[in-house]
Amino acid sequence: MSISVSIKDLSLDFGAVSVLKNLNLDIKDGEFLVLLGSSGCGKSTLLNCIAGLLEPTDGQIFIKDKNVTWEEPKDRGIGMVFQSYALYPQMTVEKNLSFGLRVAKTPPEKIKEKVARAAEILQIEPLLKRKPAELSGGQRQRVAIGRALVRDVDVFLFDEPLSNLDAKLRSELRVEIKRLHHALKNTMIYVTHDQIEALTLADRIAIMKSGVIQQLDDPMVIYNRPKNLFVAGFIGSPSMNFLHGELALRDGTPVFVTNGVAFSLAGYRSEKPLLPGTKVVLGVRPEHIAVDEDIEPGAEMHEAVVDIEEPMGADNLLWLKHAGHVLSVRIGGTRRFSPGNQVRLGFDMSVASLFDATSEERL
Ligand SMILES: Nc1ncnc2c1ncn2[C@@H]1O[C@H](COP(=O)(O)OP(=O)(O)O)[C@@H](O)[C@H]1O
Ligand SMILES: [Mg+2]
Repeated sequence: MSISVSIKDLSLDFGAVSVLKNLNLDIKDGEFLVLLGSSGCGKSTLLNCIAGLLEPTDGQIFIKDKNVTWEEPKDRGIGMVFQSYALYPQMTVEKNLSFGLRVAKTPPEKIKEKVARAAEILQIEPLLKRKPAELSGGQRQRVAIGRALVRDVDVFLFDEPLSNLDAKLRSELRVEIKRLHHALKNTMIYVTHDQIEALTLADRIAIMKSGVIQQLDDPMVIYNRPKNLFVAGFIGSPSMNFLHGELALRDGTPVFVTNGVAFSLAGYRSEKPLLPGTKVVLGVRPEHIAVDEDIEPGAEMHEAVVDIEEPMGADNLLWLKHAGHVLSVRIGGTRRFSPGNQVRLGFDMSVASLFDATSEERL
């Protein structure tokens, strides 16, 4: 598969502050790539460099094999959608959509065709004669996407396009953006701090911290095999349970020991040798701890006490006390417990994560 956008050794400093640090990233043709990270980690800065709105301090950017590092934004073959819709308030939706094409002196029949197609894809045909003030937030954001759509661009850049919308609209538009990508098959680079948007939309997620990409992978690999403690803690809600302890050997099998309690690591798929004495952090997601009758026959069991439960309809989230830790465990919504109930737990080590406590890298 060919590369659509290639970022080579990109650095950007704002004065003495280094925001992007020697960043490398290849985005495939037709790929939906999500840049995920908390506020201030450099996502918008990276996107603005790709768009040509910011000049990098060092490094190069290629779009479709062309070095665009010094090209004007309009010559890069990109369309950008921002968090704030910034529509022209005095113009109708139709005029907003066609504005860029009119400036570029596109023939009127061509404009009509492109606007009609964008309106159809985004289901805003009934709104074409309205002005932005007569639209809801979601409709305005659809028009903003439409403005990028009418231009024949190779790459769409989205900077948190849904964060100004309420939760319900956000999930609706999320599905529409995914549908749009399936229909257009353009390369899309999408910035968000929302892990759900990242997991649901992305072909690959690049998860960033302080201007450095921590892991670039398929969403399910990021979720199931995080490369380091930061990625493990960033993705998942509630967060992965982290238990601090040490590696040891018991009857020749590696075990994880915390507060005097040992967990067999026989089922753990390690990437590095599990050396006894190493200080480690065991990470287990709430849905990977089985309770009572859900425990596999013959599996190692641990006693725990229910502290609190949070029923959420489809799921029930239990907070349990075990070996000096508080653990969150996700079970089916119909299974209910009371504070003080004694339960047995089974940890599925085949999907757990172990990190070196010092380097914070996956073992
Ligand atoms: N024009 C600027 N001048 C100085 N610092 C900036 C400027 N723009 C952004 N920054 C800083 O760069 C860092 C990354 O910003 P940004 O890329 O907007 O983060 P994100 O989009 O991930 O929230 C932040 O610490 C921010 O304060
Ligand atoms: Mg930003």
